[in-house]
Amino acid sequence: MSTTQTNKIEIIKATSSKINDVDFDNLSFGAVFTDHLFECDFKNGEWQTPVVKPYAPILMDPSSKVFHYGQAIFEGMKAYKDDKDAIWLFRPEENHKRFNASAVRMAMPEIPESIFLDGLNELLKLDAEWVKRGNGSSMYIRPFMIATGAGVVANPSDEYKFMILLSPAKSYYAGEVKVIIAEHYSRAANGGIGAAKAAGNYGAQFYPTNLANKDGFQQVIWTDDATHTKLEEAGTMNVFFRINDTLLTAPTSERILDGITRKSLLAIAEKEGLKTEVRSVLASELVEAAKDGSLKEIFGAGTAAVVSVIKGFSYKDEYYELPKTDDSYASLLKEKLTGIQNKLAEDTFNWTVQVK
Ligand code: COI
Repeated sequence: MSTTQTNKIEIIKATSSKINDVDFDNLSFGAVFTDHLFECDFKNGEWQTPVVKPYAPILMDPSSKVFHYGQAIFEGMKAYKDDKDAIWLFRPEENHKRFNASAVRMAMPEIPESIFLDGLNELLKLDAEWVKRGNGSSMYIRPFMIATGAGVVANPSDEYKFMILLSPAKSYYAGEVKVIIAEHYSRAANGGIGAAKAAGNYGAQFYPTNLANKDGFQQVIWTDDATHTKLEEAGTMNVFFRINDTLLTAPTSERILDGITRKSLLAIAEKEGLKTEVRSVLASELVEAAKDGSLKEIFGAGTAAVVSVIKGFSYKDEYYELPKTDDSYASLLKEKLTGIQNKLAEDTFNWTVQVK
């Protein structure tokens, strides 16, 4: 291992690489990690010296608060390699901002941009060979923070670990997605942590999603907890509906994540001259639109899956299948977005940031 210091980030290089063992054409999402990770600990009220080091297990006290009270947050981001082998991030400052908003909600310390973004930059430079070219290939980036302070008293930890992992990715899930509209379970509630990227928001989805899977549905469309009438998110993604030629999605709120893919797709749709409406969409409205043929598309939008087309939905034990469309908004928006991300199209929004 060789050790150097760059911009106050300590760099410890792995002595060998695993890259030749990886089949980049057959990657399962989030299963393979690169040779290095980024780590920075919070102790004595301040962030310590950050380090890029070989990927390895971590040793933790079993009473660490993350294990008992779930003080844990994360982000999902991606990096892309262009045809000149330059690496690009997509709106990384948005992820940093949202990470800190999640930290505040979970009573965790905010992390300076100089640690989050510079750390990511150094990590990507070191594992640059792992970022593969071509539309469909990307590097999924998982920044996260956990409470490492020991002791089971139920109050916020005084010690934390921030880490960034890199996982080379192809598409997230390519199969057909059928969804069930939630009538009982909720992903989030007013006053709760739905708008934060808190680990527990995702863990709490597993049980209702397993029930949906047993009934032949891959995902759940989450509704508002008070009335279960408003359509809010789909699985781990924001959700869009096309009724006639209008693209609809719910406004962000305490219950809904401020998705970066969501707001990028809205901006692209507006630029393309599509009619968009950010408002609550009711389950009854969706059923009506499915019945009279005006419901053209439903799709989820998130970093991991980008755009995930939904083929049909179930509500109150009735299944509604969507018609095939020749002029799919989902395809158009996905093509425009991934074109910008992969540097195949001009980035008129100034969303891409080069890793240097
Ligand atoms: C995303 O797509 O933004 C996610 O957070 C997905 C992740 C839970 C795998």
